[in-house]
Amino acid sequence: MRRKLVAGNWKMHGSHAANAELLAGITAARPFGCDVAVCVPTPYLSQAAVALAGSDVRWGAQDCSAHAQGAYTGEVSVAMLAEFGCRYVIVGHSERRQYHAETDQLVADKAKAALASGLTPIVCVGETLAQREAGETELVVKRQLSAVIHALGHCAGEMVVAYEPVWAIGTGQVATPEQAQAVHALLRAQLKAATPHAEAMQILYGGSMKPDNAAVLLAQPDIDGGLIGGASLKAADFVAICRAAG
Ligand code: PGA
Repeated sequence: MRRKLVAGNWKMHGSHAANAELLAGITAARPFGCDVAVCVPTPYLSQAAVALAGSDVRWGAQDCSAHAQGAYTGEVSVAMLAEFGCRYVIVGHSERRQYHAETDQLVADKAKAALASGLTPIVCVGETLAQREAGETELVVKRQLSAVIHALGHCAGEMVVAYEPVWAIGTGQVATPEQAQAVHALLRAQLKAATPHAEAMQILYGGSMKPDNAAVLLAQPDIDGGLIGGASLKAADFVAICRAAG
């Protein structure tokens, strides 16, 4: 049995006061029967590191630079994230692909940089509504994942993959368990062709996962956890999803 991972993606939300309350609510609910992480805005990494130190709740960032250092104003390197104790970094979230024109190759380069600094990349893939309706879901997610597999080579087994259908993100329109499982199975098969570790890899589902739909999604054989946006901002909701995961 793969251990499940529930990771919160706070996106651009939070304040010192709100984060303190949220983190306290999460740590107070321990222990969890699954891996739990919060991916917070970069300025709050040190707050998360202090609040979560000594607990088994992990923390991470939502993006990183593909470069090690240099004249890249506004960028944050993976080595910097590592100094804040980050375990994870999300790469290739659809909001980055959409609003910051991130290509498959850039996402792959970021994933590679993350692994090189000892962070686990949470690599997001997912199709838009138009792509799903055009029957291109498989083509799109395979193309996105294949760029990362190619870049990571024999380390591909060390990433976490998150399937996030773009049409389900923040919309309340969750994928059905069958729709999600079908894509997760495709991704697992693709990983199997690339790495002997595919069976042990965590493939998360993300897109309007909430306390009331988490259990049925997490019961699918290839859904190994969740990447949680909106519902990760309320401790009670996030904790309820962690409970559903184990
Ligand atoms: P959502 O976001 O749970 O608010 O749909 C998920 C994500 O974007 O990671």
